[in-house]
Amino acid sequence: MWQFIVFWGMSLLARGGWCQCQSGYSEVYAEAGSQAALPCVCRPSSLSAAVVHWSRDSKGTLWRKSRSGLEYRGSGAKRVQIPHSQVGAGEYTMYINNVSREDGGNYTCTVLDREKSISQKVLLRVIKVSISPQAPLESINIKIFCSVHPWPAGVTVSWKLNEEMVNPEGSGYALRTTQVGVLEGKASASMAGNWSCVISSHGKKQGNSSAALTVRGIVSPSGDSVKVYAEVGSAVTLPCVFSHGLTPLHSVWEKLDTLGSVLPLSPSFKQSTLPSLPPWDVSVHIEEVRQEDGGRYRCSAIVEGRLMAREMQLVTAHVLVNEPSTQKASFTLTCHLSNASGVIDYDWVRVNPNNSNSTQSVSSIQTGKDLRISRVIDSYTDQWVCRFHGKQGVLGNATFHLPQMSGLMGEAEPEASSIKVVVVSLGFCLLVLLLVLVQMYKNHRRRKMILQYPALETIVHSTANEREDRERNQVKADQMSK
Ligand SMILES: *[C@@H]1O[C@H](CO)[C@@H](O)[C@H](O)[C@H]1NC(C)=O
Ligand SMILES: *[C@@H]1O[C@H](CO)[C@@H](O)[C@H](O)[C@H]1NC(C)=O
Ligand SMILES: *[C@@H]1O[C@H](CO)[C@@H](O)[C@H](O)[C@H]1NC(C)=O
Ligand SMILES: *[C@@H]1O[C@H](CO)[C@@H](O)[C@H](O)[C@H]1NC(C)=O
Ligand SMILES: *[C@@H]1O[C@H](CO)[C@@H](O)[C@H](O)[C@H]1NC(C)=O
Ligand SMILES: *[C@@H]1O[C@H](CO)[C@@H](O)[C@H](O)[C@H]1NC(C)=O
Ligand SMILES: *[C@@H]1O[C@H](CO)[C@@H](O)[C@H](O)[C@H]1NC(C)=O
Ligand SMILES: *[C@@H]1O[C@H](CO)[C@@H](O)[C@H](O)[C@H]1NC(C)=O
Repeated sequence: MWQFIVFWGMSLLARGGWCQCQSGYSEVYAEAGSQAALPCVCRPSSLSAAVVHWSRDSKGTLWRKSRSGLEYRGSGAKRVQIPHSQVGAGEYTMYINNVSREDGGNYTCTVLDREKSISQKVLLRVIKVSISPQAPLESINIKIFCSVHPWPAGVTVSWKLNEEMVNPEGSGYALRTTQVGVLEGKASASMAGNWSCVISSHGKKQGNSSAALTVRGIVSPSGDSVKVYAEVGSAVTLPCVFSHGLTPLHSVWEKLDTLGSVLPLSPSFKQSTLPSLPPWDVSVHIEEVRQEDGGRYRCSAIVEGRLMAREMQLVTAHVLVNEPSTQKASFTLTCHLSNASGVIDYDWVRVNPNNSNSTQSVSSIQTGKDLRISRVIDSYTDQWVCRFHGKQGVLGNATFHLPQMSGLMGEAEPEASSIKVVVVSLGFCLLVLLLVLVQMYKNHRRRKMILQYPALETIVHSTANEREDRERNQVKADQMSK
C-alpha cells in the first residue's frame, strides 16, 4: 500500500503543480504604450509533448508551439513575445510590447496535452489618459480623458495629480465617469503636472495611466497670492516669467491699492532690458526697496491674443529701534513687516560681518518679534538679524544696521542684564534703608540722653540761644558799619 502512495506522490512532483493547469478567465489592465503580460501557466505531464496555442478572438493565431517543439508566430504578432526559457518551465505568459487601444480584447491560451486540453482566457483592457488641447494656455477650458478599452462595467474612476488624490468637489473640476472618465476645468498653473487616472472595481485598484499636463502662461509667480519679501534698502526682483518660448506683448507693471485701483509706479522700478534675458521674462527689478514700496503689484501682457495677468505682493521688512534716552538704557529692536500675515515665527541671530565663515558666525539667540538689548558695549562688531519664517521655512531677514552714534550696540543677555539691574537697585534700596535706620537710632539715643538729664536740656538750649543772639547782633553790626 505505502509503495503506491510514494509512487503517486512522486508522480505528482514530476508533473509539478498540475493543479495550476486549469481552464480559467482573468482580466489584465495595461497602460497604453507599456508592456502587457497575459498570464498562462500550465505544467502538463510531458512538457515537450504539449501543443500550446495563443490566439486572439476573431483575429486568429498569434503564437503556436507544436508537439515537436517548433514555434510559429502569426503575421499580426510582431510585438508579441513568449520567452524561450519560460516555455521550458511550462509557462506560456505572453508579453505584448507598446500596447495600444486596438490591442484590447479577449485572448485565449490553449494547452493540449496527451490526455486533455485546457484553455485560459485573458481579457486585456488598455487604459490611456489624453489631454485636450495639449499644452493649453492658462484659463482655457481643458478636458482630461481616461479611456479604457474595452470599457469595464461598474468601475470607479479617480484622479491623482502628482501622486496626490484629486477631489473634484470644490476643486473647480467636473468629473464624468461614463464610458470615459473625463475631468474638465480651466487650465491653471496649479493643474500642471502628472495626471493619473486610477480605475478600481469593488474597492480594488485595477489599473492606472498617466499623462503630463503643461500649462502655458505665467510660470512664476505660480499664483495670485505670492508674496515677495525684501529688506528695505536691498535690491529685489518681482518675478513675471512666462512659459519657455512664449513672446508676451505689451507687458505692463502696475501698483494697486487695497481696493484694486491703479497707482503710479515708483521710478525706481526698472524693467530689465538686458539682452541676456529671454523675451518670456518680463520681471521687474528694484535697486533699492523703500518702505513705501510695499503693496500689491500686477504684471500683465498679451500672449497669443489673450491678456494674461498675475498679482503679487511686495512685503518690505526692516528693524525698528526705540532709541534710548541715555546710552546706558536698554532698548528694543522690533522686526517690522509691511504685511506679516504669512509669517508664523521670528528669530534673531547674531552675525559677525567680519567672519566670512557663515556657519560659524551665525547663532540664533531668541525667538519672537521683539529683541530687548541692554548694556552698551563700545567695541561690538556683530550685527542683529531678524529672520522671519513661514510655513515653508525662512522667508527673509532684516538686519539692524549700526546707527552712526558711536557703538550703540548692546549685548543680548536680556535675563542676565535685567538681573544685574535688579541686584543694583536692591542694593541701593538696602543702603538707603540702612542709613535711615542709623539716623533713627541716633535720634533715639539723643532723646534718651536728654530725658535722663532735663537740666542739661535747658543748658544746651540757653547756650544755643545765646550763640544765635550773638551771631544775629554781629550781622546787624556788620550791616550798620556798611
Ligand atoms: C508604439 O505604438 C505607437 C502607435 O500605437 C507608435 O506611434 C509608437 O512609435 C510606438 N512606440 C514604440 C517605442 O515602438
Ligand atoms: C471576453 O470574454 C468574456 C468571457 O467569455 C466575455 O464575457 C466578454 O464579453 C468578452 N469581451 C469581449 C470584448 O469580447
Ligand atoms: C511625471 O512622471 C514622469 C514619468 O512618468 C516623471 O519622470 C516625472 O518626474 C513626474 N513629474 C512629477 C512632477 O511628478
Ligand atoms: C499605477 O500602477 C503601477 C503598477 O501597475 C503602480 O506601481 C503605481 O503606483 C500606480 N500609480 C498610481 C498613481 O496609482
Ligand atoms: C496682507 O496679506 C493678506 C494675505 O495675502 C491679505 O489678505 C491682506 O489684505 C494683506 N494686508 C494688507 C494690509 O495689504
Ligand atoms: C571688523 O569690522 C570692523 C568694523 O565693523 C573693522 O573696524 C575691523 O577692522 C574688522 N576686523 C577685521 C579683522 O576685518
Ligand atoms: C569654517 O568652519 C568649518 C567648521 O566649522 C571649518 O571646517 C572651515 O575650515 C572653516 N572655513 C574657514 C574659511 O574658516
Ligand atoms: C539674509 O538674507 C540674505 C538674502 O536672502 C542671505 O544672503 C543671508 O544669508 C541672510 N542672512 C541670514 C543671517 O540668514
